[in-house]
Amino acid sequence: MGRLSLRRTRLNPHLRELTREFRVSREQLVQPLFVVDGLARREAVAGMDDVYRESPDSLLNQIEADLSAGISKFLLFGIPAQKHATAMDFDFCAAQIAAIKLRFGDAIWLATDVCLCSHTNHGHCGLLNEAGDYVDNEATVAVLAKAALAYAQAGADCVAPSDMMDGRVAAIRSSLDNQGLDRTAIMSYAAKFASAFYGPFREAAQSTPSPGNVLTDRRSYQLDPARPADALASAQRDADEGADILIVKPALPYLDILSGLRDRVPNRPRAAYQVSGEQAAIDLLAANGLADREAAQQESWLACLRAGANMIITYAARRP
Ligand code: PBG
Repeated sequence: MGRLSLRRTRLNPHLRELTREFRVSREQLVQPLFVVDGLARREAVAGMDDVYRESPDSLLNQIEADLSAGISKFLLFGIPAQKHATAMDFDFCAAQIAAIKLRFGDAIWLATDVCLCSHTNHGHCGLLNEAGDYVDNEATVAVLAKAALAYAQAGADCVAPSDMMDGRVAAIRSSLDNQGLDRTAIMSYAAKFASAFYGPFREAAQSTPSPGNVLTDRRSYQLDPARPADALASAQRDADEGADILIVKPALPYLDILSGLRDRVPNRPRAAYQVSGEQAAIDLLAANGLADREAAQQESWLACLRAGANMIITYAARRP
C-alpha cells in the first residue's frame, strides 16, 4: 500500500523529458504577418504582444529578425488602402510578396492569405448581391482565383483561401495550373468557424463587417460551431478539390475537429490556427499576472499537437 506506480516517471526532470510523447519545435510554427498600405510607422496590434501592423519597410526588418530567431515560415495578410464593392486589385499585396521574395528567396516559406474582407468596403469576405443580403458565391470565387494567381505569380510559395466560399479550392488550383504554377501549394481554411475569437485580427486587418450592412455577420459562409459534421464535409471537399494542407480554425475550441480530420481525412497534413482572440486570452492573462505566458503558450501548442496538428499557425511563433 502507498507504493509508487505511475508517479515514478514523473519524479524528476530528466525522466519527464525522456517520457514525453510530444514536443513543440520551431520547425512546426508559422508566423502571421500584417502589412498595411500607406502606413508610415508600424503599429502594435491591440490585445497581442509582439504583433504589428507593419509598413512595407518594417515588414522586411521584422522578417529579418524572425529569421535570425529561427522562424522561417510565414502567413501574410496584405491590407490595401482602397476598399471597393466590386472592382478590386491585388497589387499592393503582390508587391509585398515580390519584395519579400526578392530579399529572402528560399530562406523563407511564404504563404499568403487569400480573402476579400480587407479589400471590400463592407468587410465581407466576398462580393455582395445587389440587395446586400447574400455573398455571391460564383462572382466571389472568380475574384479569389484572380487574387491567388496574382500572389502566386508574385512568388508566394503557398496561397491560403480563408473565405469559405464553395468551390474556391478547385477554381484556384485550375487557375494556377493553367499558368504553369503547379508547384504553388494550397493551404485551405478547410474548417473555419464563425467564431467570436477573431476580434484583434479584425482590428488589425480592417475586416470587420460594417455596421450598416444588411448581412451583419459571417454566419452565411463560415461554419456553425454546433456542426462538426459540416466541418468534416468541408475539409473532405477541400481535399478532394486539391487542397494540400487543411487548416482548422480557431484551434483550442475545435480540437475535436482536428482529431476528427486525423481520423477521417488522414491523407492531408493539418494546420491548427491559434487565432488572435486565443492569443489575446493568453497574453491578457499573463499581463494581469494570472498565468505564466510561456507555460500557457506551450500548453496550448501541445494540445494542438496531441489533437493531430502537423503545424501551428501562431502569433507567438517569434517569441523566444
Ligand atoms: C478573414 C480571416 C479572418 C482570420 C483570418 N482570415 C477573420 C475573419 O473571418 O473575420 C482570423 C484570424 C485571427 O483571428 O487570428 N477571412
